[in-house]
Amino acid sequence: MKLLVLGSGGREHALVWKLAQSPHVQQLWCAPGNAGTATECLRATGAKVENLPIAVDELTRLADFAAAQRVDLTVVGPDNPLALGIVDLFQQRGLRIWGPNRRAAQFESSKAFSQDFMLRHGVPTMRSGTFSDPAAARRFCAELGGRCAVKADGLALGKGVLLTTSPAEAERAVDEIMVQQAFGAAGARVVVQELLEGMEISLHALCDGRVAKLFPTAQDHKRALDGDQGLNTGGMGTYSPAPFLTDAELAAVGRAVLDPWLRGCVAEGIDFRGLLYPGVMLTAEGPRVLEFNARFGDPETQVYLTRLESDLVELLSASVDGTLERMEMSWSPHASVCVVMASGGYPGNYVKGLPITGLEAAAALPDTKVFHAGTALQDGRVVTQGGRVLGVTAWGDGLRTARDRAYAAVDRIQFEGAHVRRDIAAKGIGVAAKF
Ligand code: AMP
Ligand code: GLY
Repeated sequence: MKLLVLGSGGREHALVWKLAQSPHVQQLWCAPGNAGTATECLRATGAKVENLPIAVDELTRLADFAAAQRVDLTVVGPDNPLALGIVDLFQQRGLRIWGPNRRAAQFESSKAFSQDFMLRHGVPTMRSGTFSDPAAARRFCAELGGRCAVKADGLALGKGVLLTTSPAEAERAVDEIMVQQAFGAAGARVVVQELLEGMEISLHALCDGRVAKLFPTAQDHKRALDGDQGLNTGGMGTYSPAPFLTDAELAAVGRAVLDPWLRGCVAEGIDFRGLLYPGVMLTAEGPRVLEFNARFGDPETQVYLTRLESDLVELLSASVDGTLERMEMSWSPHASVCVVMASGGYPGNYVKGLPITGLEAAAALPDTKVFHAGTALQDGRVVTQGGRVLGVTAWGDGLRTARDRAYAAVDRIQFEGAHVRRDIAAKGIGVAAKF
């Protein structure tokens, strides 16, 4: 098969790495890819993965390429082409593509859509309201006693969320998003939610429109600094499994979320073929969905795909074809930890183009894979090119081993101003130690 992967982050490097292991793949492009995707080779043929200089929002150019090369399956990594309707366009042109269509992608592209859907179909979530009028948003914040999550309705790269614990703070948040438009047009409407307390986990489920197959648990670290301090980021590190649930509890949480969600999709004629990633808060009152994403998490993908034993091409094909029911997903019992190395200043401003050294020394370590995210090749050297630069991932018997391996690799890699959280997986290791 010929495959095309869209995106350029750590998630896409992990997808490319895993897909390249499939005996089904004869040719693989990544558009636009990064310095890491371009170094992968296909297990079946030994051929190199090729980066393709087309951006993920150049939908027509991507479709033209897929048609000209007779690509058998295009795999969409990030959310923005999904929200732009890339799946609908490819389907109209008879091109096979993996990911939810535009209507189904609204679970991520509109928080208001998701929130209303959850209320309609009894998916466990929190009190919330959607507002286009700042005064009404402020009133609802006051009703919640100022303990709120104030979110820009549109896509804001995971950054358009402000958490507040007092009425004054909540007012300032509404002002920042709606009046000063700190996140641009995404803040024309806001969703105000009750602030939930508990342990947050990531769920992933592969869906084919009728069936949803749940992955094991993972946990992300969204804040920039140790101890969950600092600004929200796209994610500073992940680990899997997240030992806050037994297998039976995970299955129950999965059912509580996915059963009403799937019933709602079928009832409304929403054909979700892709990856549903609910962010879930485990509260004293039970699981509550914080948000839905309509794609693989980044950096959840890095830990999931280093645990997945099944063939990813077969799974994604079944998701496209509506044949998931027959598929088994097999997961390695080992734990996996991904530590993100970010540019100094991220999620604020940062410089690009800084040389990265030590990648080979890190790659020589056992049970370790350095996924590239914001990297590029410049005059034959790997340089920084984005906020999240690398996802240093390692696995082993238990979280502690995986964590120690990941940090051993991190410590071999240098670039100026590199920023790393040092407490990735600490919460999970703390809990595991109690059993
Ligand atoms: P989101 O982009 O909606 O996932 O929000 C970013 C982060 O803010 C989430 O990962 C949570 O850590 C936090 N968050 C979002 N909504 C809430 C909420 N209603 N209560 C508590 N924390 C929240
Ligand atoms: N792990 C955060 C995200 O993918 O949105």
